Amino acid sequence: MKKIYLDYAATTPLDPAVFNEMSIYMIDLYGNPSSVHKDGIVVRKAIQQAKQIVAKSLNADAKEVFFCSGGTEATNWAIKGYARAHTKKKRIITTQIEHHATLHTCKTMEQLGYDVIYLPVDHQGFISKKDLDQAINDDTLMVSIIWGNNEIGTIQKIEEMIEVCQKHKVILHVDAVQIFGQMEIDLSKLNIDMLSLSAHKFYGPKGSGVLYLKEGTKIEPLIDGGSQQNNYRAGTENVYGIVGFAKACELVKKRLSDYCKHVNLLATSLYEKLETSIPDLKLNGPSLDNNRLLGHLSLSFPHSNSHDLAFALDAKDLYVSTGSACTSTSITKSHVLEAIQLEEHYGTIRLTFGLHNELNDIDDIADRIISSYQEVKN
Ligand SMILES: Cc1ncc(COP(=O)(O)O)c(C=O)c1O
Repeated sequence: MKKIYLDYAATTPLDPAVFNEMSIYMIDLYGNPSSVHKDGIVVRKAIQQAKQIVAKSLNADAKEVFFCSGGTEATNWAIKGYARAHTKKKRIITTQIEHHATLHTCKTMEQLGYDVIYLPVDHQGFISKKDLDQAINDDTLMVSIIWGNNEIGTIQKIEEMIEVCQKHKVILHVDAVQIFGQMEIDLSKLNIDMLSLSAHKFYGPKGSGVLYLKEGTKIEPLIDGGSQQNNYRAGTENVYGIVGFAKACELVKKRLSDYCKHVNLLATSLYEKLETSIPDLKLNGPSLDNNRLLGHLSLSFPHSNSHDLAFALDAKDLYVSTGSACTSTSITKSHVLEAIQLEEHYGTIRLTFGLHNELNDIDDIADRIISSYQEVKN
């Protein structure tokens, strides 16, 4: 059987053009960017240029872009770094459907004595503006919200959340890891203070992330060491990761509109087929045309279980995820599915489309899913 990868929300393959750009800095231009000689200077310039490219794609300033090891580090840094720079306030507000990068950081903050409020969501995964408004008090340090949910695809109405945070003059961190690559993000129009990004979600390298830090937002470094990146993020820069991040950003911009149409058509076509063949199939998150990540299907099948479904599909060379990649080996129900109150008798898989999927394969994909479901249904 032909291998079909439907797990692009977990990670994407490296774009060959990104690899070509990165390889130059692996073999030829290998200087340490902190070195004073010409080999160092040329690499230092490449990092500066990468910052400008990323900044341009966000309509931000290069001074506001900091490279790090990925979405997890960016988010840890935003929360822990901001808390260490502002020690008076002790309340952090987040949501019940965050990625573990935020959730587990918040658990650590609780152990350090912080009061963390996890905002509930409705059945489609939306938080309410009113809940956020009511949760903010005088002791509130910051708000951290996932913009596009990795498990169920919900895109929060971020403008509303920005409005509430501005009203209370509270700092907002946004996890934009899933949404970048699907939507233009114009930070000159959105009052977001900190934003996390990760290159491997948009055909860039793994282990390469960005924390956008709005000018004037004070945070402490997460990692102690040398004076790299203006004393904000110590350690010799991951030069090829950084150059790869920037190249992947440029490609996102070039193909954005075609990409969105492509993945949306694939997800919509597959869903239409499955919906007619499987009664009571449930699409988690919002409907396909309403504040939902494109090319993203979180599907729940009655009287089945997620792992049996995923394994049956794996045997047919169809690679999917059970919820988020980080929980795919655990049998406990995902916190996101709990938060939307999905009933117990459903098995859930996540199918996420990308650049290399083809419309011609949709019938075959549907057949493999339907037959796998028949095998595992109880
Ligand atoms: C929404 C979201 N936030 C954060 C992360 C973590 O990013 P990284 O894998 O770069 O650490 C992920 C990755 O799955 C994600 O989907």
